[in-house]
Amino acid sequence: MDIWAVANQKGGVGKTTTVVTCAGLLAEAGKRVLMVDLDPQGSLTAYFRLESARLRKGTYELFREPALPGRTELLSMFHPVSSGEITLFPALPALATVERRFRSDEGVGLRLARALVAIEHDFDHVIIDTPPVLGVLMINALAAAGMLLLPVQTDYLAIKGLERMAQTLQMVVRARGRELRYSVIPTMYEQGSESSAQGLRTLMRSFADQVGGTVVPLDASFRDASARGLTPSRFAPRSKGVRAYRALLRGMGVLEPDTGRRFTAA
Ligand SMILES: Nc1ncnc2c1ncn2[C@@H]1O[C@H](COP(=O)(O)OP(=O)(O)OP(=O)(O)O)[C@@H](O)[C@H]1O
Ligand SMILES: [Mg+2]
Repeated sequence: MDIWAVANQKGGVGKTTTVVTCAGLLAEAGKRVLMVDLDPQGSLTAYFRLESARLRKGTYELFREPALPGRTELLSMFHPVSSGEITLFPALPALATVERRFRSDEGVGLRLARALVAIEHDFDHVIIDTPPVLGVLMINALAAAGMLLLPVQTDYLAIKGLERMAQTLQMVVRARGRELRYSVIPTMYEQGSESSAQGLRTLMRSFADQVGGTVVPLDASFRDASARGLTPSRFAPRSKGVRAYRALLRGMGVLEPDTGRRFTAA
């Protein structure tokens, strides 16, 4: 089971969009995908029209009791979304209290990592959405993940923020004592904008080893897809934004390369 965390301390950079789009593309390729909403804002949960205030259980249950929920209990808290092709572990508003209530509990940063072990044979991919805050929740995501995706806008301030985040990351990674690969995803790239082009160049210079060949362009179909509650690849499979995420996943080796048009023998 591959576990990815999607994170950036900066808000509104495309984290939730990255989770939904990657999950949708992987599910369409037949993978069993679990999305985990670790953001108290519950944007991922709201994306699929689950009303967090009316749900009884969600990722907050990872913290509530000293004993972690086991496999059966975890599976009972998951919801099928996107016509049943993806599974969602939703966020409840109570998640916002985790920081204050459990911050000093021993092992609080490892709750998610430990819980996921119980379901490691149930899914091929787990993708974790995180809040734009470096706190207990983000630490849980980083501790559970084998791979970190960092969406970043190609503008000056966003890139400065990313440099700070990279330093923090190094501290977290050192503390956890095992390697965490990370990949920077330039997003909301404005074709023809000089500042976007310059931002991308700066990003490539500062994070040469982490920026792959894929840049996600500014594409209004992401907003339209969320307004309809559909994954971008269901809403607009051929949009330039979805094509970019498809290329990203192919580059990471988790989606098959494009074989072009398929012919079936008559
Ligand atoms: N490539 C893109 N082109 C155009 N709009 C985009 C793109 N990616 C995301 N968006 C839009 O930008 C807004 C913010 O995106 P998103 O919610 O994914 O960011 P976020 O990093 O998860 O925010 P937060 O920090 O609040 O959780 C959304 O309205 C989304 O539809
Ligand atoms: Mg978000």
